[in-house]
Amino acid sequence: MLKVVAEHAGAFYQHYPRVAAIVTASSGGRKNAMAVAWHSSISFKPPVYGISIAPKRYTYQLISESKQFGINFVPYEKAEMIAAVGGSSGNMIDKFSEFNIAEDKSIKTEVPILRDAYAAYECKVIDNKVFGDHAWIIGEIIAVHVAEGVFRANGMLDLSQVHPALYLGGETYCSTDVSYVKFLDREKYGKK
Ligand SMILES: Cc1cc2nc3c(=O)[nH]c(=O)nc-3n(C[C@H](O)[C@H](O)[C@H](O)COP(=O)(O)O)c2cc1C
Repeated sequence: MLKVVAEHAGAFYQHYPRVAAIVTASSGGRKNAMAVAWHSSISFKPPVYGISIAPKRYTYQLISESKQFGINFVPYEKAEMIAAVGGSSGNMIDKFSEFNIAEDKSIKTEVPILRDAYAAYECKVIDNKVFGDHAWIIGEIIAVHVAEGVFRANGMLDLSQVHPALYLGGETYCSTDVSYVKFLDREKYGKK
């Protein structure tokens, strides 16, 4: 492909779409939820997950105090919830009552688990490092919540049951479906 080359990244949306998720936190009786597109698994053993949160966010304050966070994966059909918690600050409002967000109980932490999530992790913070205008907060996953019937026996999301919420940038959401699934055995395709 012919490419245009530049030295300045700008807003660098080229690596999107990304799964849009909702980070939850609580501290001292206050709780909050915010949208995140920058997050990743980091290690299987132990299970470790990272989230990139700007230190100016209210959520950052709660996570810094409690050393815990939750990450919740809601389907494309709940993209309005992602936009709502990503477009408002918990400094000003209680997003749970304002946006009618229902919770399930966490088991190892105090973080809210979203009822609409098809999967959620409870994490204990093990590291926090600031890079530029965001902090890479790393958590060990100490509890996993998974909706029944939406993952296959091999652990893969069943796209006939759930449409993941993907974020394209520019306030635009999309998803995918079973017609875009193909199985490519790495043993076979990796052979020289
Ligand atoms: C789809 C989407 C993805 C976002 N991803 C991130 C992210 O990865 N990191 C971040 O710091 N802010 C991200 N934001 C912005 C925060 O969600 C937003 O600033 C939010 O209002 C912060 O809430 P708080 O002040 O209550 O913590 C995202 C917003 C949207 C809508």
